[in-house]
Amino acid sequence: MTASPQVSAGDETELLAAFDAVIERHERIEPRDWMPERYRSTLVRQIAQHAHSEIIGMQPEGNWIARAPSLRRKAILLAKVQDEAGHGLYLYSACETLGVSRDELTRMLIEGRQKYSSIFNYPTLSYADVGTIGWLVDGAAICNQVPLCRTSYGPYGRAMIRVCKEESFHQRQGYELLATMMRGTDEQRAMVQESVDRFWWPALMMFGPPDADSPNTEQSMAWGIKRDTNDELRQKFVDMSVPQAKALGVTFPDPALVWDEDRGHHDFGQPDWDEFTQVVKGGGPCNAQRIAHRARAWDDGAWVREAATAFAQADA
Ligand SMILES: [Fe+2]
Ligand SMILES: [Fe+2]
Repeated sequence: MTASPQVSAGDETELLAAFDAVIERHERIEPRDWMPERYRSTLVRQIAQHAHSEIIGMQPEGNWIARAPSLRRKAILLAKVQDEAGHGLYLYSACETLGVSRDELTRMLIEGRQKYSSIFNYPTLSYADVGTIGWLVDGAAICNQVPLCRTSYGPYGRAMIRVCKEESFHQRQGYELLATMMRGTDEQRAMVQESVDRFWWPALMMFGPPDADSPNTEQSMAWGIKRDTNDELRQKFVDMSVPQAKALGVTFPDPALVWDEDRGHHDFGQPDWDEFTQVVKGGGPCNAQRIAHRARAWDDGAWVREAATAFAQADA
């Protein structure tokens, strides 16, 4: 799976040439194949970060399950949050094929040695946030993840195909929720606008820092792990979201947002990158709360893991 110590330098050159040829042909690297150690560690970092984001992302929306305004809305939200748990499981499994156990991955998350998406460190203050997260946060996730269906590592790409189908559904349910509220009272419309105002900039941050400040992008693209740069994806998301906002009847809190005829794209302002850095470093509004909750859930589940292990051994 990885470069073993008995591989000689000559063998390694040959193995690397074979690996490069697979990448060049846009074919897939599978768990049984030799791969450079940095390719493996980059994938572990990226897939783990993605898996952690799915699992931590259950918290802000889970916050509204008990307070959803109707049985129908509760059922939709419950199913959506369960989907995110499923995404986390596919991705942890993909990561395990690279030789890291789920135990280790969870420990690294709880100890702050691996990251998750900055967006989930913002609170959900109103029920409209459930719709906004579906529309903008799952929408941004789709922009990020559709190209990953073609990523060079087989288990990751295959997991992403199913994840993306479900994310599209999440985006639509969020949009439908907001559209319903926009047809309601003035108070409901104001709730939607206030929620969109709070989530717009953090949603743009989901694509990561500008390309000039993203040291890993170039190598990740050369290896076919990443297919588009952060700025390309951010542009795509803005272009996609503007007509949807118009149809919905909401605005984005960016005075610089304007259609640029020459470029054929929207121009837009930059998020507050200092805020982004602070949130990524653990100083966001909910970082401590999210990790404390995850750690508690992990501890509470210890007896289940022990029982499952004992059962599997008794069965063997
Ligand atoms: Fe997801
Ligand atoms: Fe989702």
